[in-house]
Amino acid sequence: MSDHLEGGFKVLHVAPEMAPFSKIGGLADVISSLPGALNRIGTDARVLIPAFPGVFEQAEKMDYRITRIRRNIDLSINWRVYSSRLWKIQYGTTPVYVLDNPDIFNDPGIYPGELNQTTALPFIFLSFAAFQISNAIPWTPDIFHLHDWSTSIVPIAMKWHPYFSCYQNQYRTVLTIHNLAHQGILKPEVLEGWGLNKAFHMEGLEYYNSVNLLKGAIIASHAVTTVSPRYASEITHKSMGMGLEGVVKQNISKVSGILNGLDTDYWNPSSDSFLPSNYDRGNMSGKMVCRSTLFEKTGWEKNCSPLITMVGRLYKQKGIELMLEGIEQIINWGGRIFILGSGEKTYEEALFKKTREYPDKVSFVKGYDEPLAHLVYGAGDIFLMPSLFEPCGLSQLISLRYGTVPVVRSVGGLADTVLDADSNSEGFGFVFSEFSSHAMLSSLQRAFKSFKNKNRWNSIRDRGMKMDFSWNHSAPEYQAVYSRIYNQKIEGK
Ligand code: ADP
Ligand code: GLC
Repeated sequence: MSDHLEGGFKVLHVAPEMAPFSKIGGLADVISSLPGALNRIGTDARVLIPAFPGVFEQAEKMDYRITRIRRNIDLSINWRVYSSRLWKIQYGTTPVYVLDNPDIFNDPGIYPGELNQTTALPFIFLSFAAFQISNAIPWTPDIFHLHDWSTSIVPIAMKWHPYFSCYQNQYRTVLTIHNLAHQGILKPEVLEGWGLNKAFHMEGLEYYNSVNLLKGAIIASHAVTTVSPRYASEITHKSMGMGLEGVVKQNISKVSGILNGLDTDYWNPSSDSFLPSNYDRGNMSGKMVCRSTLFEKTGWEKNCSPLITMVGRLYKQKGIELMLEGIEQIINWGGRIFILGSGEKTYEEALFKKTREYPDKVSFVKGYDEPLAHLVYGAGDIFLMPSLFEPCGLSQLISLRYGTVPVVRSVGGLADTVLDADSNSEGFGFVFSEFSSHAMLSSLQRAFKSFKNKNRWNSIRDRGMKMDFSWNHSAPEYQAVYSRIYNQKIEGK
């Protein structure tokens, strides 16, 4: 027991993606780094992920040892029994258990375009499998740590499933909300095949006559966290609550905001093997090499004008339309823009069009490209993130570490992590509030002005590189949440 009070909990993180094995966005980064950070401070954190296409190939390419767990995971879903092999990958200090059934986990894009009984199967299987892990390996978690709608079924099943509710007194659950925009909305007919029809009521999964998995998990979990403190308060308001603000408010006593950390070993310009030349605060010459390399790739002539970069998913969330509206002005001011990303077709097409119009000023690379992303973080002068909403954001943290000054909208984790250099002598970025291209451009203009003053720019950049956005602060906060809900269990709450 004293073990537990000191943080020695056994925690199983259940998630659909984990870098470097599979990655769509920042969730994968968190799953690859938070468990290791927890292990360093005494938690026994492990991970359960599915083998979507590419997971084993990636693990083999990186020389991870993959060992077979003798027992399979068998589950009854939609009146059928599904079976999955189980493998273990030792990822640093973190054991990662991998569910392997290519018929179920067959979508390389991980998240389906449309959620229905068939496309939800991988996530139902993953969630129910969490309860079976202790039958397959000699280890039983104290706590399930769930992430977003896709593993929300775990706390839901513990509360309302006729069989899994027997675990109500055994396990504790933490739900981390990485993005409230995705809630797992389905038709109520799906529930019967999952054994969850009893959960369809206003105090459960019902949401305007549909099923809302995230809503159910907010109600059913012992603790709820968001990935930044600001986001925890934003989602209690109509403007950011995506229709769940009422549910969040009703459950506010168990909600806390814990800022994401970064894997500072992986994201480190002084050792990053994807960079053509490494650098650090003491010697920034390698950053110039990164810049030249990116210019060569684009075919641009070398020059000293500010290079604005973006790496990310091209969706409304990321404020792509503001950047598109502002491109001509940025070019008129002498800036160049490099964007790496993929997402909505309309944004991709608009970016290709701008690239054709201004080939020596704008460059867009469509796709997901890990090595190129590193080069872009290294090469840029300014990293632009004009997000409509941003639960945390890791890209601004990475860019800070790589000496690329962030220009961000003051929302969510961006507001919690970037300090404006004009309004604060310790500032290391440029921040705007209103969601408009005008507001974005005026903060870019301030950044351009500072860029011309090399001494000032270098010290803004240096202050950003010095910031500590590792898990050192946040992992203990998660441990405190684990302690709190574990103690509540002991007290019978
Ligand atoms: P989100 O999770 O909303 O996409 P984050 O800023 O939290 O945003 O995390 C995005 C992560 O995905 C970062 O590690 C970023 O470098 C990476 N990423 C996004 N788009 C791409 C891309 N096209 N190629 C490579 N990495 C990308
Ligand atoms: C989500 C959010 C992003 C956050 C990431 C990791 O994808 O959009 O802001 O950084 O999850 O928590």
